[in-house]
Amino acid sequence: MISVTKIKPCDFKGDLIVYFVRQRQKGVPVCADDLIQKRIDRAYNVGNFKGKLEETLLVYPEKKYDGLQAGLLLVVGLGKEDLARDLFRKAGGIAAQKALENKAEKIYVVLPQDLDFQYVDMAECLSEGLILGGYKFDKYKNNDEDGPVTQIKNIRIYASSQVAAARKGVAYGSAAAEGTKIARDMANEPANVWTPSKFAQFGRKIGKMKRCSCKVLNKAAMQKLKMGGVLGVSRGSHEPPAMVVVQYKTGKKGPTILLVGKGLTFDSGGISLKPGEGMADMKYDMCGGAAVMAAMDVIAKEQPENINVVAIVPATENLPGGSALKPGDIISPYGGKTVEVLNTDAEGRLILADALAYGIDKYKPDAVVDVATLTGAVIIGLGHHRTGLLSNDDDLADKILTAGERSGELLWRLPLGEEYTKQIKSKVADIKNIGGKPAGTITAAAFLQEFVGETAWAHLDIAGTAWDYTEKSYVPKGPSGIGVRTLVELLRSWN
Ligand code: BES
Ligand code: ZN
Ligand code: ZN
Repeated sequence: MISVTKIKPCDFKGDLIVYFVRQRQKGVPVCADDLIQKRIDRAYNVGNFKGKLEETLLVYPEKKYDGLQAGLLLVVGLGKEDLARDLFRKAGGIAAQKALENKAEKIYVVLPQDLDFQYVDMAECLSEGLILGGYKFDKYKNNDEDGPVTQIKNIRIYASSQVAAARKGVAYGSAAAEGTKIARDMANEPANVWTPSKFAQFGRKIGKMKRCSCKVLNKAAMQKLKMGGVLGVSRGSHEPPAMVVVQYKTGKKGPTILLVGKGLTFDSGGISLKPGEGMADMKYDMCGGAAVMAAMDVIAKEQPENINVVAIVPATENLPGGSALKPGDIISPYGGKTVEVLNTDAEGRLILADALAYGIDKYKPDAVVDVATLTGAVIIGLGHHRTGLLSNDDDLADKILTAGERSGELLWRLPLGEEYTKQIKSKVADIKNIGGKPAGTITAAAFLQEFVGETAWAHLDIAGTAWDYTEKSYVPKGPSGIGVRTLVELLRSWN
């Protein structure tokens, strides 16, 4: 869908051609192309376009004026502030939005030259913005009043120099963005479609790729392994649970990274039922699982040489059926610890406990990262702007903070510690699944920490960022696909 082209701007005959320019400063031309520069000058002189960040100028070009044969010419401003990776994503997102508004299906993008910025990064981030800003989930919508819904079908990127760097950047950016779209698609599906068996299906598909394998533990297999967490949570639902394990193995030495994602395909709260208002959003309670599976898909396609990756998604519904867990029940996740379930709505930590303990025991990873829509409390603490990060390892935490920064998916680290762990001590079992109101995000992580032992581990609480994320041109309303690009970046840069 996105490719680097050799076709010259003047020969492109598709729907929309896009130029990016810095904000106009006295006497400095903003565009290397003389004819386009004339267009911009005219708009600038009547005060219509300065090139501020995300400002746009849309023109019907004419061959005799600007030498273009494209249907529409779009100029997108980059502003005059320091250039940064996320700025290019935002600019790309704006271009994609304008393309959709104008029903442009075939678009052509001229990469800016002479900017004081790494060319690979620019191409990477513009590609991400273009792909993600054009994302739509309209599968269940018949034609609306504006006629058939449009999708961007084809993006061609043109680089007049540094073509190799452009290719590299476009390859990175498009792989990560396509992964993010996969995660958004999974999350957008309603819970009656995206069931635990869909995670299993997706895992098996990755399993067929080179160096990959997939194993799905069904209820019987989980009973043998004594995975009381998933089994307990799934008891109230008729939908069969699954523990989906996908492995990417190079066969070479190199670290093994375990990724775990919460795949709660619908969280009603169980017997500790949630209020009706907003409950529909709980189909998104599988966004951690989606991020992990989608990141694994990107890795399987990229085939890195230096790392081995295992992805595990414990998947189930949490419903208040006749056999459901009840407050006060005692269960035992993989490994034998006992847990008093005082609130059946704190179910994510129960299924993650199985996946973490099993994954560490079986695959002996060098590091573990879990991603989960775990607590409402993280929204109180950080809003919808940052993912909560908790870790028992400073080096791993720093790696993730850096990967998040480079991906435009910011995180904020919260502490762990004995005083928080004390909050989850139980009178009747080893631990309980809630730690009271104070520090809800931390006590949830402290619960998970009980199942990772000494292994370097980090937990990403994405309850605030998986949907309703900070408004950005390349993040439309609905699920953001958060975590995919951070995980891919983390694995790409692992050393
Ligand atoms: N899936 C929810 C967390 C959540 C809440 C995600 C709001 C996104 C938006 C989780 O299973 C849950 O219900 N957690 C409880 C824990 C509490 C009972 C200790 C919560 O946060 O209220
Ligand atoms: Zn819950
Ligand atoms: Zn949940």
